Amino acid sequence: MPKKILIVYYSKTGHTKKMAEAIAKGCRKVENVEVTLKRVEDTTNRDLLEADAIILGSPSYFRLPAWPIKKFIDESIEIYGKLKGKVGGMFSSAGEEKGAKKCIQGLREMLEEHGMKIIGEGVYAVESPDEKETEACEKFGEMIARTLAEGS
Ligand SMILES: Cc1cc2nc3c(=O)[nH]c(=O)nc-3n(C[C@H](O)[C@H](O)[C@H](O)COP(=O)(O)O)c2cc1C
Repeated sequence: MPKKILIVYYSKTGHTKKMAEAIAKGCRKVENVEVTLKRVEDTTNRDLLEADAIILGSPSYFRLPAWPIKKFIDESIEIYGKLKGKVGGMFSSAGEEKGAKKCIQGLREMLEEHGMKIIGEGVYAVESPDEKETEACEKFGEMIARTLAEGS
């Protein structure tokens, strides 16, 4: 059975979406994983339960994850305790590096509170990801997919 990676993101102006797509591309370089890319607005608690790894992305809004991500995570209280041990990762786009890093920290805390096992430090981009940041996203996705596939 292939391991399932769910990439969930919110993006208003497309920057975080581009990062999500690059992360998905990286994940797909690894065999025996199945990757699903979803807007947070279209994602349910059932999607979270079915995934082996969840990679969560948000633009930084006042240095924190944007409210649609917060709402989504607040609603995941319904399945609290059931995501324990799943693999997690984070990504963020922001106007400046500091904003993105703070947002990643917020995303990490949400996943850690769910008892997930966080892989890596997360990746960020300043506004739209440039070539170097896109490459970092691909590598990040590949690293998570490889960790997951090897753990099976
Ligand atoms: C309401 C709002 C708050 C923001 N707050 C911050 C912030 O605190 N720090 C920062 O670096 N960028 C901030 N930004 C900039 C966005 O994080 C940045 O433009 C990001 O690339 C948008 O991602 P998206 O294209 O995926 O929507 C803010 C933007 C908005 C609309």
